[in-house]
Amino acid sequence: MTWAIVPAAGRGSRFGGAVPKQYLVLAGRPVIEHSLRAVLDHPGVDGVMVALAQDDAAWPGWREVGGKPVLTCVGGGERADSVLAALHALPASIDDDQWVLVHDAARPCLHRDDLARLIGEGCRDAVGALLAAPVRDTLKRADADAKCLGTEPREALWRALTPQLFRRGGLTRALSSAHRNGVRVTDEAMAMERLGLKPRLVEGRDDNLKITTPADLALAEFVLSNRKD
Ligand code: CTP
Ligand code: MG
Repeated sequence: MTWAIVPAAGRGSRFGGAVPKQYLVLAGRPVIEHSLRAVLDHPGVDGVMVALAQDDAAWPGWREVGGKPVLTCVGGGERADSVLAALHALPASIDDDQWVLVHDAARPCLHRDDLARLIGEGCRDAVGALLAAPVRDTLKRADADAKCLGTEPREALWRALTPQLFRRGGLTRALSSAHRNGVRVTDEAMAMERLGLKPRLVEGRDDNLKITTPADLALAEFVLSNRKD
């Protein structure tokens, strides 16, 4: 049994527009509703804590989604600050040993099979796990003038996705340590790695897109409207 944290306090500066991207309509529903339903769909997820911007005027005020509780807290200046705020705001009944799933509000195309595999494999790992996709493109290292310096081997490289699954206590300690030391961590796994831990990669689908630009929203619309299972 686990709770989810959904960081949704970003401003969507790369996307642009008046309304943050997580509230734009995708296949008939706000992006964030897809992301919440996707994590709450798993029978092992009991509820979700959503981190919102202090001045968020677009949050619909949901108290439940799909029959499960939705709580909110105020996020922070960086994604990691929002996740840490949500960890602190989780109900006290969730003890430090319990697993917590962190999933971006901006990832509406999470597939139920990926979530099930992540939870199944992640809970058996001592450290925790994240969804990730192998890098498929040829990778170039370049100088400041965008001239190629070389080609990087990609065999050992993966793209980190969400959800990511860690124990409440361990993740809180890892994110607090990064924060205290002024280290910017861009996902939960990076905070754990800093402490010498090795999170497990669970291969996820390429269509678990993060909405960053308007083109991603169009792609996500295509993915969701063509999904058969
Ligand atoms: N996020 C958050 N708190 C922040 C920054 C980001 O909760 N201070 C959330 C976003 O709402 C999003 C997820 O983290 O669901 C991934 O972040 P990203 O895709 O970078 O979203 P934004 O920060 O909103 O976009 P941008 O970087 O273009 O401003
Ligand atoms: Mg951002």
